[in-house]
Amino acid sequence: MKNVRPHELEDAPKGLYGGVNGRPALVDPFGRAISYLRVSVTDRCDFRCVYCMAENMSFLPKAEVLSLEELDRVCSVFVARGVKKLRLTGGEPLVRRGVMTLVESLSRHLRSGDLDELTLTTNGSQLAKYAQEIKAAGVRRLNVSLDTLDPEKFRAITRWGSLDQVLAGIDTALAAGLKIKINAVALKGVNDDEFPQLIEWAHGRGMDLTLIEVMPLGEIGEGRLEQYLPLSIARARLAERFSLNDVDYRTGGPARYVRIAETGGLLGFITPMTHNFCESCNRVRVTCTGTLYMCLGQEDAADLRKPLRASESDDLLFAAMDEAISRKPKGHDFVIDRRHRRPALARHMSVTGG
Ligand SMILES: C[S@@+](CC[C@H](N)C(=O)[O-])C[C@H]1O[C@@H](n2cnc3c(N)ncnc32)[C@H](O)[C@@H]1O
Ligand code: SF4
Repeated sequence: MKNVRPHELEDAPKGLYGGVNGRPALVDPFGRAISYLRVSVTDRCDFRCVYCMAENMSFLPKAEVLSLEELDRVCSVFVARGVKKLRLTGGEPLVRRGVMTLVESLSRHLRSGDLDELTLTTNGSQLAKYAQEIKAAGVRRLNVSLDTLDPEKFRAITRWGSLDQVLAGIDTALAAGLKIKINAVALKGVNDDEFPQLIEWAHGRGMDLTLIEVMPLGEIGEGRLEQYLPLSIARARLAERFSLNDVDYRTGGPARYVRIAETGGLLGFITPMTHNFCESCNRVRVTCTGTLYMCLGQEDAADLRKPLRASESDDLLFAAMDEAISRKPKGHDFVIDRRHRRPALARHMSVTGG
């Protein structure tokens, strides 16, 4: 494909996604302005969720991982080029030593108005410790991943996690005034019987809930076909019990939402396998080694660590970002079926953070 520079795009959104101080927005060859960056701040985690990691994971050596200052710089160059929403993820972002220094330092972009939202996706295990500080740094909302309310199932899914610890973390975060969305991965024969209970629990505490289809990322040592539950089936079952009303509400993410009449809360469906959400994709991902992935479902990536470490000026970084965004693909091609028993992509979700 011919490389297209942003200024050559006739239908590029103008004004809305412009960068800071007149810098051009990052616009891909399909006219999609990049306004959302997800940054994985560590590949490590205190859980070993069965769909995400193998039990014996080997993690990156420290020298390969960006320092907190380097992560700040990468985030800040994206903000300078029009990113308005920044999500820190992982691995588990809250197990990275000193992570609050990064959150606090990035909050300057909220105060300047250059960034609309700073948020995190977390497994909740460290929230009791950090929720107050997170709120004080200007974070308004968190995504907390929780697949079950059954302590034994929770232990089986996360291998190492404690449900009580996560529930206590959620309580602390709610009490601190953070808005929480619960994300649950739909696992066939594991938690699919619990969706009504999860809905009532989450909505009863003012939290929205999103169900996520299992994506084929990384060798995890178990068959994905066995775990995969199409959300069309889950939705049809829920519709027998609740009134699901479609709503237009979008968060800038790939979820489609319904409002449940009986609870008043929102239920989202993220269905990469059964529904193609690529056409409105405004996001890119950076790993903790400074690798930029233009698409969650493709291997193509660009190294930002080299230009970052090569110079104190950001010019090389801007050039590497422009070049990479000119290669952002139109969409992903995940497949889970009997002919493709291997993961569609070798990297684990904990590399790009979902
Ligand atoms: C990789 S985790 C990183 C942040 C944090 N550790 C957490 O669990 O929220 C981000 C999200 O990806 C989801 N996830 C991990 N592996 C997945 C897979 N193979 N398919 C679908 N979602 C997955 C998790 O459930 C979680 O909601
Ligand atoms: S989903 Fe999150 S909590 Fe679970 S192993 Fe992956 S990174 Fe850790």
